[in-house]
Amino acid sequence: MSIPPSQVVSPPIFYWGTPVVLISTENEDGTANIAPMSSAWWLGNRCMLGLGAISQTTINLIRTKQCVLNLASDDMARSVNALARTTGSKGVLTATEGMGYLYFKRMNGYKYVPNKFEHSGLTPAASDLVQPPRIAECPAQMEAELKGVYEMVQDAENKGFIALEVQVLRTHVHENIRMAGHANRIDPDKWHPLIMSFQELYGLARKKTSESILARINEEEYRPFSNPVDDEVLTEEEV
Ligand SMILES: Cc1cc2nc3c(=O)[nH]c(=O)nc-3n(C[C@H](O)[C@H](O)[C@H](O)COP(=O)(O)O)c2cc1C
Repeated sequence: MSIPPSQVVSPPIFYWGTPVVLISTENEDGTANIAPMSSAWWLGNRCMLGLGAISQTTINLIRTKQCVLNLASDDMARSVNALARTTGSKGVLTATEGMGYLYFKRMNGYKYVPNKFEHSGLTPAASDLVQPPRIAECPAQMEAELKGVYEMVQDAENKGFIALEVQVLRTHVHENIRMAGHANRIDPDKWHPLIMSFQELYGLARKKTSESILARINEEEYRPFSNPVDDEVLTEEEV
């Protein structure tokens, strides 16, 4: 393989490609909010979420300490686009210069949408352990609890972004992404996440690009970093 020359560039955004998560949270009046986001990554059963400090989702999550992380599949772009450039924050209607991300939203065509389920046509499904509903159409739905709040960009003027650490409490998946013969595994050949890269929506190639050396480790070896097997999940023999 010939190596192309590198050049110095200054990208305004660094969204290299991460899965799209639809976070559901509970508003103060008991209704549900949904926000699409993609600055998310997992380590053990913890997930770090990068969010604007004054997004309705952040406000709800800090107040209630609960959310559901619903992962969008690559056939859900329509629903994600219906939610794009919307906010559950009424403040977007009147935001003025100096109000950071909220003013950015007003200037960039964000609409105030109080009922995101109705607006997107997505279907709420009751959660088991938290108040916010799951999104039935999403193939993976993780009920989660807030464990840590870390202010980002502390060294600069332009603050307003927060990293929120949540713990996954219970995971629900559509039957058709489970790995045959295993009670607790997802089949990556069947799971097709929607990926956001530089604001555009992509899917992953439908096949592995090569053998993975890391994948020689049995997934159960990671169990100590995750949740114990859920009593309600079928045992290996029952699958
Ligand atoms: C595909 C996609 C990915 C996004 N990723 C993020 C993100 O990682 N962090 C963030 O703060 N906003 C992200 N946004 C923008 C939020 O959806 C936006 O802030 C929204 O207004 C939040 O809704 P809320 O104010 O009702 O919580 C993303 C939007 C889309 C469509």
